[in-house]
Amino acid sequence: MGNVLPEAGNANLLIGVFVFWTLQVGLSPLYSAPVNQAAFCAISAQTSSLESMLTKLPANVDSKEFTEILSLLNATLTKKRGRECQRKPATRAGAFAWNTKQFVPTKRTLELFDPPGISREHGKFARGAKLDLGLQGRIAIVAAASKGLGRAVSEELAREGASVAICARNASELEQAAAHIHKSTGREVFHQAVDVTNPAAVSHFVGAVEGRFGRIDICVTNSGGPPSKMFVDTNPEDWRAAVDLLLMSTVFFAKESLPRMQKNKWGRFITITSSAVKQPVDGLLLSNSIRAAVTGLARTLANEYAAHGITVNNVCPGYTRTARLDNLAASISARTGTKPEAVFGDWTRQIPAARIGTPQEFAAVVAFLASERASYVNGASIAVDGGLVRSLF
Ligand SMILES: NC(=O)c1ccc[n+]([C@@H]2O[C@H](COP(=O)([O-])OP(=O)(O)OC[C@H]3O[C@@H](n4cnc5c(N)ncnc54)[C@H](OP(=O)(O)O)[C@@H]3O)[C@@H](O)[C@H]2O)c1
Repeated sequence: MGNVLPEAGNANLLIGVFVFWTLQVGLSPLYSAPVNQAAFCAISAQTSSLESMLTKLPANVDSKEFTEILSLLNATLTKKRGRECQRKPATRAGAFAWNTKQFVPTKRTLELFDPPGISREHGKFARGAKLDLGLQGRIAIVAAASKGLGRAVSEELAREGASVAICARNASELEQAAAHIHKSTGREVFHQAVDVTNPAAVSHFVGAVEGRFGRIDICVTNSGGPPSKMFVDTNPEDWRAAVDLLLMSTVFFAKESLPRMQKNKWGRFITITSSAVKQPVDGLLLSNSIRAAVTGLARTLANEYAAHGITVNNVCPGYTRTARLDNLAASISARTGTKPEAVFGDWTRQIPAARIGTPQEFAAVVAFLASERASYVNGASIAVDGGLVRSLF
């Protein structure tokens, strides 16, 4: 590493100071968000030097932000030493062999380790050069889309030029989501309050979308998740409700949208399930069980509709920062007595990427599957989970 400065050997000392300051002194006034702390702890627990810690900065910290970190460090050092650092490292790895002895992290530097804008508010998502996905003018339905993953998918599709139709049960939250997506993308957003477990409401919604836009090209199915329960605590009604919510809602959208796509000999039917279909998650018994049926349905529809120019794929989110995940952490906390931030810390430690995902990262994969470019991806179940699922396929 050509740019390593002489003080590189102090990295371990610095990381101790850094972690101490972060946890004991500086973090609480700066962060109200426990997940930032948890993510930070997870990163620091897995690294043995500041250098390797910095290489674990989120991939979507762009070069401008990276330069900003360097200048923050430089400014700190300049202040401490009364002179400018002479040699500027050219690479991430080189940068943090920098003199670490007197390094005092600033709020901004800490933010860059787990930027609230990315992990919590989803405000930032680094976008590189634009790939034309061929979504301009497409008509897309996204179910259960006033919040979380569904909303991020709608926004991503709209940003790529599709007109979108969204539904959820709470009409005012749905209206707000539609207004936000329209404002941020300039695309038309049709919205209707619908409970996806109600076949008549789904039928009416899909018909209204066709009436408004003239056709349907893309349908992304989604719903809320079933509650976290152990087997002993479930009753037959819990099972029926989970079947309605996860499986039957997908059946209803398939029944309504696939024949309409068939008319145009083009379509994308995408189910949102969970990484649980590849690797069951403890405590999510209902999800583990019923989502497997949704995956079986999607795989079979892929065979039945491929000849009509329609692909059917399933996207499996891992731990992704949404209201659902906060609720899940709260319910595990209530059941086990573990603090919610410790629940987040536990999840983060299981993920090779050492962080919780963002809805935008998930939405980018759905948008690709919905696109012209994904024309030969059919019948796949794709995990978007930072490497959480350990299986080969
Ligand atoms: N986030 C994760 O880490 C993660 C991981 C794996 C799987 N998942 C699954 O992915 C799905 C979406 O998760 P999320 O994190 O985006 O959840 P979320 O933030 O809680 O959002 C759920 C959305 O679904 C709507 N919804 C819920 N029940 C509905 C119903 N019966 N009919 C119509 N809309 C309904 C909600 O609006 P209303 O309440 O107004 O209806 C809301 O817009 C869930 O099934 C979840 O279990 C999430």
